[in-house]
Amino acid sequence: MRSIFAFILIFAVVFGTISNQRISVPLKINDKQQLFFTVKYGEKQCQVDLIPAINFCSNVITEPSQVADQCGSVYIGENNFVKSRDYSAKFQLGNTQTNLQFSVPNGSQSMFYGAQELCFGFQNYAEQQNTLIELFQSGQLTEERFYVGLNNAQTSSASAGYLDIGAANESQIKAGSDFVKLSTSTGESQYSTNSNRNLNYGSQKLQGGSIVFFSLDSPFTQLSIFAFQDLLSAFSQQGVEYTYLPDQDYAVYLNSIEQLQNITLGLVAQDGSAYNVTLTSQQYTKQLNNSQYQLLIVPQFYTNSITLGYPVFESYYVGFDLPHRQILIVEKAQQNTFEA
Ligand SMILES: *[C@@H]1O[C@H](CO)[C@@H](O)[C@H](O)[C@H]1NC(C)=O
Ligand SMILES: *[C@@H]1O[C@H](CO)[C@@H](O)[C@H](O)[C@H]1NC(C)=O
Ligand SMILES: *[C@@H]1O[C@H](CO)[C@@H](O)[C@H](O)[C@H]1NC(C)=O
Ligand SMILES: *[C@@H]1O[C@H](CO)[C@@H](O)[C@H](O)[C@H]1NC(C)=O
Ligand SMILES: *[C@@H]1O[C@H](CO)[C@@H](O)[C@H](O)[C@H]1NC(C)=O
Repeated sequence: MRSIFAFILIFAVVFGTISNQRISVPLKINDKQQLFFTVKYGEKQCQVDLIPAINFCSNVITEPSQVADQCGSVYIGENNFVKSRDYSAKFQLGNTQTNLQFSVPNGSQSMFYGAQELCFGFQNYAEQQNTLIELFQSGQLTEERFYVGLNNAQTSSASAGYLDIGAANESQIKAGSDFVKLSTSTGESQYSTNSNRNLNYGSQKLQGGSIVFFSLDSPFTQLSIFAFQDLLSAFSQQGVEYTYLPDQDYAVYLNSIEQLQNITLGLVAQDGSAYNVTLTSQQYTKQLNNSQYQLLIVPQFYTNSITLGYPVFESYYVGFDLPHRQILIVEKAQQNTFEA
């Protein structure tokens, strides 16, 4: 009897430890306004800034191949699909040391030329190097998932938030809330879910779209051109002054955001229920200086989809599950902003 209890106890301890495997990597924002993290790799621990990629991606470091050699990476072979030289190296990712494979593009003939990224997206071809899959295969993760939560999507220097690889950081979840599994939208090449087309600015309905993506590489939310025009008309009706510069990347500048309303979008959960996501005016605008704000919303001409810019991760802690190609969402715990 005692040995059975001991066995159960040991099993529970081991399992409890394993089921908690998480690699937390601090995220920052670069001057192209993309989320990125800094890693060290190779025997020489060379430092490089990489973006977490979820579109069509591979682990890629664009650099002369001498650099990969000098950093102490191990050459594996030519990758004819990616048109690259592939390497393996020890990466320092957050507090974890791990071996990852990556491609060094063979000049501009490579489809990934110029990329500096670790891939957390779908793997359509075996030649694509994928961080989640490699960490899972080497036993460093129990789940091929990652989570994103931001504390400040507008900071340029300090940590903007975390990429939690493998398991959620429970302290990022608002007390009493649980992850909601969102419906999966088939046929897309990246993580996506469906919307019930309930898109509102305050109480005013905007023309929605039915497929929803989350962006890690832009703070801009993309709405259909019709929703965008409706939004600008709503500003005009409210007496909100703005400058619209369609020939400068559709930039919209505002003198004040005081009167702006929340934007809400209805997502469809796996069980068919609605999950409403709110973007506040602080999240869909950026303060440029004391007198001007920029609208972080741009129109797109493919009208059936909506892409939420990364400020949404300030209010929601969002998981991306690779095997199920599914997005999980929960309200984020708000940081205690008390400062002594
Ligand atoms: C890389 O480029 C060199 C020189 O252009 C070429 O000989 C080689 O076959 C290329 N390798 C791959 C994998 O594309
Ligand atoms: C987990 O999240 C909390 C709340 O955001 C944060 O203070 C803490 O540093 C995180 N832990 C790790 C290991 O990232
Ligand atoms: C806007 O959304 C925030 C966050 O969900 C909420 O606290 C606030 O009350 C909302 N404002 C209005 C006018 O609904
Ligand atoms: C979501 O928002 C819609 C309005 O767009 C509202 O009618 C509905 O009750 C909300 N659902 C939930 C679950 O909050
Ligand atoms: C604020 O920024 C806008 C847009 O970049 C610029 O046109 C304006 O002159 C700036 N105002 C001040 C007071 O710096």
